[in-house]
Amino acid sequence: MPELDSKHILLGITGGIAAYKTPALVRLLRQAGAEVQIVMSASARHFVTPTVLQALSGLPVRDDLWDGGAEAAMGHIELARWADLVLVAPATADVMARLAGGRADDLLTTLCLATPAPLWLAPAMNQGMWRHPAVQRNRQRLVSDGVLLLGPDEGEQACGDTGPGRMVEPEAILAAISAPSATPTETEQILLGLNVLITAGPTVEAIDPVRYISNHSSGKQGYAIAECAAAMGAEVTLVSGPTRLDTPVGVTRIDVQSARDMHDRVHENIAGQDIFIGVAAVADYRPAAAADQKIKKQGDAADHTLILTENPDIIASVAALPERPLIVGFAAETELAEEHARQKRQCKGLDAIVVNDVSKAQIGFNSDYNSATLIWEQGEVTLPFQGKEALSRQLLEQLMSVFGMRLTVPPGALGPT
Ligand code: PMT
Repeated sequence: MPELDSKHILLGITGGIAAYKTPALVRLLRQAGAEVQIVMSASARHFVTPTVLQALSGLPVRDDLWDGGAEAAMGHIELARWADLVLVAPATADVMARLAGGRADDLLTTLCLATPAPLWLAPAMNQGMWRHPAVQRNRQRLVSDGVLLLGPDEGEQACGDTGPGRMVEPEAILAAISAPSATPTETEQILLGLNVLITAGPTVEAIDPVRYISNHSSGKQGYAIAECAAAMGAEVTLVSGPTRLDTPVGVTRIDVQSARDMHDRVHENIAGQDIFIGVAAVADYRPAAAADQKIKKQGDAADHTLILTENPDIIASVAALPERPLIVGFAAETELAEEHARQKRQCKGLDAIVVNDVSKAQIGFNSDYNSATLIWEQGEVTLPFQGKEALSRQLLEQLMSVFGMRLTVPPGALGPT
């Protein structure tokens, strides 16, 4: 059971159908040791009653900025300071818009603006609403303001639709907010003066001008590491297969398509790098000969064979260089995850490998979350289930604590202090 050890959690509940899950969430938070103060929006009352929530949290539910009695007990600014963590679950499209706009038009949004504590949102809404450009704009604005987003999940929705917009389950919310790196601390510049090269996303291998072989990598994990490394002071170059993601602030991005492109761009940029992190899901094989023209249907009902040939192993080729950086690979495995990852680390000559067991729900490909084990020659450490941003921070901190001595920046390299 994750531990919250007397943490003060301010739980904001807004008016979405997923509010019916909040009594279970409050129970879990309390069982994990947290003190929970609930603040409801006016419309949340249509979905769950304050009586139930008060009974489970043990504290009167707050919902009114102008409630003189409640304010006399603990004023809203005091409440904002009391919180170690603010969690809004479910967070509707409306509350996301109001928070993205910096509005403070009810008790909950006022608290979210006033609190120095980290703010987590677990969005929940219809899939069409979630996909709407206005909601996506607000999501991006909130993330760049430092708000931590949990989900949403994909799947069947209360309205009958299927798609992204389901609130993350209470157990996953608890796991994410109780992870050791869940509370962002001021980012220390532990990578200042270091050059870091990262590969991310999938590669695409052409069959003909309109068809290709690829995989489900979204690039989220690699981009999160790039963003975090830049925030920690590194000069970051990101060699990326096709993704839908924006380039992280302060990162130099080089776009590629195939494994061979990625191989060439990596080798053009490898000189002077201190750390190489291969997060990309690189195709091991490509069609032996991509057709110049679109391949036509034969109409003969026979089986057809696509002949594949092996791609270069990018990370192994970097490891074989006479002057090599610290090399960290990734492995997404579906069975015997650690065993396979250890073999890969050895065969490819890597200093360390990060293994994610992608047979588990919400781990690895195209999820906003991950959990992994970092394995090196003399040890291993578990990076628990959490958002990919938080996991990236933990991974880089861990790498510096294991390999930092090898990465010392020469005196004077950072200029006069
Ligand atoms: O992009 P996301 O949706 O966020 O998903 C993240 C992820 C699941 C893709 C990522 O966490 C991950 O696990 N990436 C590695 C995927 C994988 O299974 O790699 P692999 O086992 O095929 O390769 C092992 C290592 O060798 C990797 O570092 C890979 O980049 C590298 N490799 C592989 C083949 C090749 N030809 N050249 C390589 O450099």
